Amino acid sequence: MYNSQNGKFCHPERQRRIPHFYARDSSPRQGGAQNDSISTDTNSTSMSHLSQFDPEIANAIESELIRQRQVLEMIPSENFTSEAVLEAMGSVLTNKYSEGYPGKRYYGGNEYIDQIENLARDRAKALFGVSHANVQSYSGSPANQAVCFGLVSPGDKIMGLHLFYGGHLTHGWNVNFSGVYYTSVQYVTGRDGYIDYDALAKQVSEEKPKLIFVGATAYPRKFDFSTLAQIAKSVDAYLVADISHIAGLVISEDHPSPVGHADVITTTTHKTLRGPRGAIILCNGESSEPLKAPPERSRKYLPTMIDRAVFPGLQGGPHNHQTAAIAVALKEAATPEFKEYGHQVMRNAKALAQALLDEGIALITGGTDNHLILADLTPLNIGGKQAQNVLDEVGITLNKNMIPFDTRKPFDPSGIRLGTPALTTRGFNEEDMRVIGKIIGEVLKDSTNETIKNKARDTVRELTEKHPLYPGLTVL
Ligand SMILES: Cc1ncc(COP(=O)(O)O)c(C=O)c1O
Repeated sequence: MYNSQNGKFCHPERQRRIPHFYARDSSPRQGGAQNDSISTDTNSTSMSHLSQFDPEIANAIESELIRQRQVLEMIPSENFTSEAVLEAMGSVLTNKYSEGYPGKRYYGGNEYIDQIENLARDRAKALFGVSHANVQSYSGSPANQAVCFGLVSPGDKIMGLHLFYGGHLTHGWNVNFSGVYYTSVQYVTGRDGYIDYDALAKQVSEEKPKLIFVGATAYPRKFDFSTLAQIAKSVDAYLVADISHIAGLVISEDHPSPVGHADVITTTTHKTLRGPRGAIILCNGESSEPLKAPPERSRKYLPTMIDRAVFPGLQGGPHNHQTAAIAVALKEAATPEFKEYGHQVMRNAKALAQALLDEGIALITGGTDNHLILADLTPLNIGGKQAQNVLDEVGITLNKNMIPFDTRKPFDPSGIRLGTPALTTRGFNEEDMRVIGKIIGEVLKDSTNETIKNKARDTVRELTEKHPLYPGLTVL
């Protein structure tokens, strides 16, 4: 539809007020215009070219923005970046090729890209306190792949926490590159859900791996990096700490740092760190010489081994828009406000855990001392899949998850995993968490009761309106 006043194409969707996805009595996820509306300003032309050329994509992005605003996002690996990060991501940097590293590129015209990548690397080094940072891995999985590629050879033995006990696919899961190309041995938690460091030490001394991954996607307790370093040292294995989930908490000093214990640290940049999708690999050692193969593989040459594994080992041109957005996120992470954010993530997780316990929900390890919670739904007689679906219906987004020693299958496991990083970014506090814990408990205990579900929808709506997300941002 052409708007003769401003001369711009205006998709009919812009004409309507945006409905609330999870409005009471509405059918969830339909987004139809049948119910109450919230007053979302749709007059901005911030993506006017997109909505003009490709209204289908623009509308889908707009709908996703509305969905993010209107749900309680409790998947612990998700977060909301700042608008500054979004702007860097959506910039002309996406146009540039820059294979190589700052000062050592295979393409011309990289003076500003070098500035950006140097800023990102310097900020990462300063923030974590290491001598080397690689910021080019496209994401967390390629970062872990690069570490394996750089440090060990195909067929070498690696160890990692079993996927069903909280580990990540890239730590040696049998269908992942890490379990296919390497001889993978997995360790598990104890029955209590905690890593059993004595059992791990015994297993490591028997297996003698060359590389040990520590880190997790679903582990609600702190890692003892000092003990893990001793265990790795006992067999001269590289210790790789994947702090993807907890990087923001390491920066806010709510979780001990692996620096000084782990040989290499990998982290995604989009979880508690609150940046764009991406990854960073950190280590110490002699300055990187990415154009020259090191004389041997050893701790001394880790920076060169890592850089060469990322490029040219696994990747071509870095994603410069992503690098810039990572640099912005790292600048944000160096502020006192970010430290306070990390503390609040922790306070919120503790309050949420207590609220769930008060509802009679069993938690793996009995609680949390990081940003996430793993609940065992067995006593409630509801599977993880059904729990995820019914909570989705009322506007609470979390994920089904295997629990230690689960007797059910990954597609319908016994647990759910939830966390506080994204809601904390929106300004949610402990009191909000107590309310959320209560409605989660009520819905899970009586999952077909429409009165309870409608009440939960109302509460979700009140909370999301109380803590608006991207109030100034519009797509159409
Ligand atoms: C501990 C850990 N490592 C690595 C990754 C992989 O990151 P990505 O999904 O960016 O490849 C994840 C993602 O969830 C993770 O939790």
